[in-house]
Amino acid sequence: MAVQQIGILTGGGDSPGLNAVIRAVVRKAVAHHHLKVLGIKEGWLGLMTGQVQELDLEAVSGILPKGGTILGTSRTNPFKKPEGPQQILENLKRFAIDAVIAVGGEDTLGVAQKLFQMGVKIVGVPKTIDNDLGGTDYTFGFDTAVSIATEAIDRLHTTAESHHRVMVVEVMGRHAGWIATFAGIAGGADCILIPELPFDIDEVCEIIKKRQARGKTFSIVVVAEGAKPEEAKFEITQSDKVDEFGHIRLGGIGTVVGQEIEKRTGVETRVTILGHVQRGGTPTPFDRVLATRFGIAAVDLALKGEFGKMVALEGNKIVAVDLAEAVAKLKTLDKEFYEIAKVFFG
Ligand code: F6P
Repeated sequence: MAVQQIGILTGGGDSPGLNAVIRAVVRKAVAHHHLKVLGIKEGWLGLMTGQVQELDLEAVSGILPKGGTILGTSRTNPFKKPEGPQQILENLKRFAIDAVIAVGGEDTLGVAQKLFQMGVKIVGVPKTIDNDLGGTDYTFGFDTAVSIATEAIDRLHTTAESHHRVMVVEVMGRHAGWIATFAGIAGGADCILIPELPFDIDEVCEIIKKRQARGKTFSIVVVAEGAKPEEAKFEITQSDKVDEFGHIRLGGIGTVVGQEIEKRTGVETRVTILGHVQRGGTPTPFDRVLATRFGIAAVDLALKGEFGKMVALEGNKIVAVDLAEAVAKLKTLDKEFYEIAKVFFG
């Protein structure tokens, strides 16, 4: 049966560009193909509880430059509730949703893949500021996060230089050092610590001392929130609670690194944790364009009946990959970028 009504949802942590995807899906589906689009509220939660609203052209007017998501989001995992998957199947029928476009990262799309295996017609759109989703070269939101982190590093540079301090900047990146490395390269970081490479605090201090020896009285150290010291068997977290996908809340490693640097080098050190500032606000033009391309490609896939796929960026082309492939393995940092960053350490 041909697709007549598409449901769209956004799940997981928000990412600048979500509204651009929603707008593109609605404009392409409604104006060009005369389909109906239902917005599903709060990620998978809304499909379990039946919270939907029709999205017409007016509903998506003016949302392109806005951060966040007009649909709301949640980290709800339907497979953690006994009735979850069944409720979803019932609501798809109840609201006559022929195909679902799920916009999310590893968790949201992991659920999409499982529902696809149960016969739900699903297309995925990759989203995460962390850029750690498999199957795609880049996710939207990443470029915006890097821009914000780079601006912060630029600003910290001038105050670091004036006060002869070490500035430690903690950025997001739970499992991967994409934001840390890109913002670090762009902002001229003197040292970058990423989750993929456990660090030795003595080596970090050596870099700072080397800079001091050549007359540089300030240093910038960028730390991804998931970075760990070599000897640590634990992660620095903000609370013991885990979400429904088993993730703990990271944050605070920057403070630990900052304290150790000051103690070991004697150089006054300050720590800035950027946190959710990196996820909020208006998307960059790159992210708006990428999100728009993804949204349009997702509608095309749904209309062609190519379900169980995720739209992806390969080089400069939008392609379709299997959802199963995309969620199989996290995409950690391409080491080539770290090698480039390292040239500027010290
Ligand atoms: O997955 C994206 C991300 O931004 C991570 O870098 C971070 O650990 C996490 O979300 C924090 O999300 P929240 O505070 O919304 O649970």
